[in-house]
Parts: sequence; C-alpha cells; structure tokens
Amino acid sequence: MTNARLDELTDYPFQRLRNLLDGTEGGGPMLNFALGEPQMGPPTLLTEGLASDTAGWGKYPPANSTPELRGAIADWLDRRYGLTGDAAMDPESEIMPLNGTREGLFQIANLVVPAVRAATRPLVLVPNPFYQCYMGAAVMAGAEVGLMPAIADNGFLPDLEALDRETLHRAVLMYVCTPANPQGSMADEAYLEKALEIARANNIVLALDECYAEIYDETPPPGGLQIAAATPERFANLVVFHSLSKRSSAPGLRSGFMAGDRDLVARFGKLRSFGGAPLPNPVAAASTALWRDEAHVEGIRAHYRRLFDIADETLGNRRGYFRPAGGFFLWLDVGDGEAFAKKLWEASGVRVLPGGYLARDEAAGNPGQPFVRVALVHDEATVRKALTAIAALME
Ligand SMILES: Cc1ncc(COP(=O)(O)O)c(C=O)c1O
Repeated sequence: MTNARLDELTDYPFQRLRNLLDGTEGGGPMLNFALGEPQMGPPTLLTEGLASDTAGWGKYPPANSTPELRGAIADWLDRRYGLTGDAAMDPESEIMPLNGTREGLFQIANLVVPAVRAATRPLVLVPNPFYQCYMGAAVMAGAEVGLMPAIADNGFLPDLEALDRETLHRAVLMYVCTPANPQGSMADEAYLEKALEIARANNIVLALDECYAEIYDETPPPGGLQIAAATPERFANLVVFHSLSKRSSAPGLRSGFMAGDRDLVARFGKLRSFGGAPLPNPVAAASTALWRDEAHVEGIRAHYRRLFDIADETLGNRRGYFRPAGGFFLWLDVGDGEAFAKKLWEASGVRVLPGGYLARDEAAGNPGQPFVRVALVHDEATVRKALTAIAALME
C-alpha cells in the first residue's frame, strides 16, 4: 500500500548529484558548493537563548509557540517593513512560528488545495526553476503543477502577464520566491502589487517565499506584507515565509515563520494541532533573541558581500556570470550544467548543483539545464579557491 503521488516526484536534487558524481574520484578534497548551508556557524545568541529555558524541555509547547516569540517576530516585521499604527502586525492572529520555512511552504498546499477547482483538477503555480519543496507540496496535495518559467528574458522571475485565463481559473496557490533561489532575482514593489492583485482577482493564495530577504547586496528587498498592508483587504490571500536559517546562519535550529492572512494562520494552527510539531520552547527562546538582534545579521550580510566581491574578481569577465541582487547563490550559465558539474568535480573536488535538477522540462526544454548553482556559504579563502577552479573551466 503506497501513496503513488510520492512516486511522481523525482529524487531530491542532492541524491541526483550523488548519483552523478559518487562513482568518480574528485580532483581534490571535496568542497561542497552544492548545498545552501551557511558554514560560518550561528551567533552565540543562539546557544545562550537555548540555555535560557532549559525547563522548557520538560513542557509540551503551545501549537503557535510562545507569545514572546510571536511578539519578537511582529516587532521585527514592523521595523523591517515600516508597518506602523493600524498597519502593525497582530502577533496573535497574523503570525505562526514554523520549524523552518519548509514546514509551512509544504503545508500551505495541504491547507488550500481542494479536490476540484473550476470543475477540474486544481493547479498550483510554481516558478521554474524552483525550490523543491513547492513541487513536493503541490504533488502531495493532489494538485497539478503549473510551471511559470523564470528565465533570463523575464528577469529570472515568473512572467505574471503570461498567465492565461484558464490557468488562473484553475489555480489555487501560487509560489513566488524573492530573492529567488536559485537565481538571486528580486521582485520590486510593482511586481508584488501585480502578483497580489492577480491572486485576489482569481481567489488564489499567494505564497511569497522571502527566506533570503535579509541576504541582499545593495537594496533591501521589498516584502509582500508592506504592499498588502496598504490595501483595504490587508493580508487576504497572502502569506509570506521567513527563516533564521539564512538570516542568522542557523539552519539547524529549524526556525522560521509564516505571516499574513489570519484565516490561513488559524487553519495552519488547527492542522498542526492534529499532526504537526510545535517549536520546542528553548528553540522559541533562542529564536526570540535572534529576531530581536540586528547586529549579527549585518555581519552576515557583510560577509556575503565580500564573497560576491571575490566572485566579481574571479568570474567577472566570464560570459555566463552575473552578480545577483540577493541570496547567496551564483547561477552560472555554463552551457551544460550536468557536464560542467562532473568536469569540475573531476578537475578540482568542487561540487556544484546542475541547474536542471532544480527545474522541470517544459515545451521549450529544461530552463535550468544550461546552468549550475554555486552556494557561496564558505569562508573567503575556500570560496576563492572554488571560484578559481570554476573560472578555469568557464569561457
Ligand atoms: C527558497 C527556499 N525556501 C525555503 C527554504 C527552507 O529553509 P528553512 O526550512 O531552513 O527555513 C530554503 C532552504 O534552502 C530555500 O532555499
């Protein structure tokens, strides 16, 4: 007895990378630039925060976590997105702490996908390339996946104008990632307004994955909440997702949140009461301390800027290179991502992810196929070494 939906999904990209490379010897000690896992270690605030509530290990945590954590998140959102007066976040009804954003990004599809939409199978709209979780969520919730090409021609963001009437009638959920993984593209305010307008006009839930919002080069990315707070409907049809994995280099803490539409926040709480795991209270205490502090985030952002400066120096004159507006990935056009990843591994021991593993085939082909994704998550010397090896193989 199995759920055949799971078989519709390809292997996870990192398994596919192991299948590609594990049979051949690397040209040096392995340097993993495939996985987006910050290597600089989390701030001491994390361990201090965990230690501040050891009694919490002996308690069942509340389904929507602690009021302290929801309050810290609300204050952070208010500061970050200029939400003042009536626009300020309500920590009780508009915020739900998550065990990492992946939990919420996946469950949102379970919350909103009905059995039937417009007399047929509902659609979940996913950018192509995409973060794998969106695809898994759509498929496991029983929806059909509608791919929105996010290619160079449209600034590596889904072309919202290209969504036709039938697609919009069938769609129930639309994922957009900004800054985007893998391309680092950033939606501006006009784009977010348009996405929200389309979502509301067609009764679609807009799931904005903003988990790289704090890792940017020059300008802080605008957020969905600031756009929506200025509309009479407030956060209707909108949920945004944020994470401490990137902002605070703490992927092991498993801590993030969703915020926005209060009906969806309440429904998520109900779903979690039945089958989810709330954040342990000590994790909530550590998360509270991290959302209340900006100094460590400034240090982390400065670190990534230096890494992108190294990328400019080593790859700046290569045809397939551009410096992204946000996030910590390079998205390099190398002609054939899989062949390049293999050649690079054999020549240097550096592992990068073929872009085709992060995308699905469309009529026009697989939009990720010509690319590799390089996660700049190491120290400066290691990044320089890997990028020098990459530059040697690029035109
Ligand atoms: C685009 C995107 N969204 C969400 C996540 C999930 O992050 P977490 O569950 O650690 O918050 C990641 C992690 O790599 C990601 O790249």
